[in-house]
Formats: sequence, C-alpha cells, structure tokens
Amino acid sequence: MTEPQLDILYTEDQIQARIKDLSLQIRRDYGDEPMVLIGVLKGSLMFLADLSRHLGHQVRIDFMQLSSYEGGTSSTGVVQIRKDLDQTIEGERVLIVEDIVDTGLTLAHLRELLMTRHPSMLRAVSLLRKPEAAKVEATCEYVGFEIPNQFVVGYGLDYRERFRNLPYIGILLNPD
Ligand code: PRP
Repeated sequence: MTEPQLDILYTEDQIQARIKDLSLQIRRDYGDEPMVLIGVLKGSLMFLADLSRHLGHQVRIDFMQLSSYEGGTSSTGVVQIRKDLDQTIEGERVLIVEDIVDTGLTLAHLRELLMTRHPSMLRAVSLLRKPEAAKVEATCEYVGFEIPNQFVVGYGLDYRERFRNLPYIGILLNPD
C-alpha cells in the first residue's frame, strides 16, 4: 500500500467526550441493574473498553464475531457467525456495542438472532452510523456520530486489518 492519506474526522478528545455523553444516556435507561455488553469483534474493541469504564460495577462483557465483509471496502451482504457468546443472555439486560452501522446488515441480523435467546431488554449502541449507506432498517438506540458515506478507519476500524490502533477516526482518502 502507498503511504496512507488520512483526514481526521474525530479527534481523540471528541470521541471521548461523546462516549461520556452516551454513557450517561445508557446509565439513565439501564439504571444500576446488572447488564451485559456484547462487543462485536473486532471493530468495537476500543469503544467497548472506553464505554464500559463509564458504566459502573454491574457490567458483564461478552463478545461475538460476525462478518459481512470479505475484506476491502464494500459489503458482500453475507453475515456469518465466526464466534458466538460464551454465556447465555436469557433474562438479561443486553446492550450490543458496535463501532459502525454501515449497510445495517450486521446489526439487523444480530438483533434478530439475539432476540431468539430471550433477553429481558435488548438495545444497541454504535459509535458511528452512515445513514446514506443503509440497505436494511437496523434499529440503533444510541449513536455517537452520524457520518458521511466515506471510508473511515481508526479507533477500532480497519482497512485490511490496519489502522485499528489509531486513537482518532480518520477518512482514508486513498484505499487501493
Ligand atoms: C464492521 C463493523 C460492523 C459491520 C457494519 O465489521 O464492525 O460490525 O462491519 O457493517 P454493516 O452495517 O454493513 O453490516 P467487519 O465485518 O468489517 O469486521 P471487523 O469489526 O472485524 O473489522
């Protein structure tokens, strides 16, 4: 790959401030009852780590890995389960934690799947959402930032597995 050209979309400070806001909303709605955060690997790792630290002591963390991408920049529309939850969520107050809702396929599929496991409450939070890229209706109760339909990397989001470790979110101007 040639040298990446990145335009910063959200700085580390902007991201962290927005996460604090989101955590206040979530705490208001979920209260101090036990809850389960389900991080969708791998993109949500940074967001989950930072968000969970604002959510108090009654939080359990589990992970799923799904994939709607075969690599590259466009969705194939195929959602596969690569890793399932370790524990049951029956009767639990569950919050799906996503880094981005793009076409909506992953989140819509995941919500449908998790509902069959009978949680007492199921909501979703995504740091980013691309309204213009939506192909299916995917409810997401908490959204950090609505962004334009451009290829973004950093803070968990990758391009061919690179850039996840950036503390900010940038627009990748020259994906090959
Ligand atoms: C990304 C992202 C979401 C999904 C959103 O994951 O983390 O899970 O795509 O896209 P959609 O709304 O079009 O379904 P990806 O499959 O790229 O895996 P990753 O998190 O490991 O990068």
